[in-house]
Amino acid sequence: MSNAKVNFRINKPSLKSKGIKSFIGIWGAKGGVGKTTVAVSLARFLSRNNSVGILDANIDCPSLHKVFGLEGKVFGSSEKKELYPMEKEGIKIISMGNITGDEAILWRGPMAASALKDLLNFSRFGNLDVLLADFPPGIGDVPMTLLEEGGLDGMVLVSGPDEISKYYAEKCKGLCEKFGIPVLAVIENKPEKDLTTDFEKLEKKIKLS
Ligand SMILES: Nc1ncnc2c1ncn2[C@@H]1O[C@H](COP(=O)(O)OP(=O)(O)OP(=O)(O)O)[C@@H](O)[C@H]1O
Ligand SMILES: [Mg+2]
Repeated sequence: MSNAKVNFRINKPSLKSKGIKSFIGIWGAKGGVGKTTVAVSLARFLSRNNSVGILDANIDCPSLHKVFGLEGKVFGSSEKKELYPMEKEGIKIISMGNITGDEAILWRGPMAASALKDLLNFSRFGNLDVLLADFPPGIGDVPMTLLEEGGLDGMVLVSGPDEISKYYAEKCKGLCEKFGIPVLAVIENKPEKDLTTDFEKLEKKIKLS
């Protein structure tokens, strides 16, 4: 059997908007390891010197609207092919939490992937230095759509200090390699960890101009 690297992204269209210089995913397949915490802290850190947005790629259980205290619904709609991210702390944020509201919606995998594509296609972020995607847990339709079609420029993987979440972060690393997405950092998160050093290294790796 050949060991040749398979680049699944060949000829795949990128859903990344044109005005976005760098599109970085925050992923780790194990739930609850701190992906959202890292994504939000990294957004705040990078926003000191850069224009930053975050896309909440957790379609069925979004949390960024709660983390940032964003009330109400976004302007625009998928039908109109225009969704206007909200802004807090100078960061542009799009979350299904401000689209579907408090209603519990059952999302089959393909439906969730389709909703994610709408967020990627229709969100009017304008020009941004960095857009972060806060991934959902798992290796299902939504993460695979982001890997295959999202046009990600890099990935930050998050694990906890435990062996199981590290095991799943390694699986994610393998998938990123298959899709030709550079893994910029593997962050071992734990309660009260100071992430400043990790973020300083990351800022240098993310192509910012
Ligand atoms: N470094 C940390 N210090 C203290 N609490 C933390 C830290 N990282 C995460 N937490 C807490 O752990 C919980 C889970 O974190 P978070 O929501 O960021 O994980 P997640 O990986 O995004 O979860 P999910 O897989 O459900 O998306 C939250 O209550 C969060 O506040
Ligand atoms: Mg999360």
